[in-house]
Amino acid sequence: MAMKSLQSAFSSILLTWFEHAGRDLPWRHSRDAYRVWLSEIILQQTRVEQGRDYWVRFVEKWPTVEALAAATEDEVLRLWQGLGYYSRARNLLAAARQVVEAGGFPQTVEGLCRLRGVGAYTAAAIASFAFGVPAAVVDGNVYRVLARYFGIDVPIDSTEGRRLFASLAQELLPPDRAADYNQAIMDFGATQCTPVHPACLLCPLAESCKALGEGRVEVLPVKAGRTKVQERRLSYIYLRCAGEVAFHRRGKGDFWQGLWEPYLMVGREGAVVESEGTVVGYENLVQGKGEMVLLAHDVKHILSHRRLLCDFYFLEVQQKPVLPDDYIWIAEPDLDDYAKPRLIEIMLQRVEEYLGKN
Ligand code: ADE
Repeated sequence: MAMKSLQSAFSSILLTWFEHAGRDLPWRHSRDAYRVWLSEIILQQTRVEQGRDYWVRFVEKWPTVEALAAATEDEVLRLWQGLGYYSRARNLLAAARQVVEAGGFPQTVEGLCRLRGVGAYTAAAIASFAFGVPAAVVDGNVYRVLARYFGIDVPIDSTEGRRLFASLAQELLPPDRAADYNQAIMDFGATQCTPVHPACLLCPLAESCKALGEGRVEVLPVKAGRTKVQERRLSYIYLRCAGEVAFHRRGKGDFWQGLWEPYLMVGREGAVVESEGTVVGYENLVQGKGEMVLLAHDVKHILSHRRLLCDFYFLEVQQKPVLPDDYIWIAEPDLDDYAKPRLIEIMLQRVEEYLGKN
């Protein structure tokens, strides 16, 4: 088939597929830019199944962009808790305030790109879903579907690849069906043309799919190189005194910015874990009393570009030690009010189990 007719066959088959096999997702019942934008930010690094409930909770708590803009960062982080990539939550609030200040959502891709946390993909998604702008989305699903169907082995993470896939995606987009087409190709990638075990036997595009014809489905798309994962070791102490616990808020320039965590040993005051259960350099915390209990060793926790290896300790003291300025003492029943990373929630569960046994 010539390239042009291959392209129009691709788009029309995809649209027909979408009519009966597309997913019924709550944000698709609305063209309200606020709801669409919120769904796209949540779905940036989160699977649909996990993001769906968060989206529902957000629109229930803050039904309009004005309501969200009036929230505090702590409130937003708390509702975001568990979704990861917390810079998204901070950007969400900043962008809501930008929108309110401007008197409404921008209706062009360029305008949307000026909102905090909105890149080329998200801007195209919002512009097409909310305003019908004929802008093609290019996400991981789109790269995979196009690389396979058209048999393209240019790496998707190269400059050439990014350009090539962006222009092909734009050519394929029927201008009068932008929203449906964009949803269709994303759903197709998510449910049919999946990264592993794609459903080629039941695929409506099988007949003209180049990768399938050439036996290359499993090797496409091609990626040139992966981002290096850095390993970090963290040792936390649940430092408790008279029913209160020392916590501090993480600062700028590292992961989990703005979230709360218990006393962190490594990197502070030169404390070193010498071997399992033996800790030096924390004498000022214990003042000769109290026993450091190791609750968990080498707990693994994966972030986007980091692998964390964590130790959890418990230490009960009779007198509050002097801590760095950013620490506060929180009464245990109030810990729920502070936004914490998932890993710290896991630590708190370990503490509860430990205290239950004692
Ligand atoms: N992933 C990102 N945006 C999406 C959307 N609108 N529907 C389904 N999956 C998505």
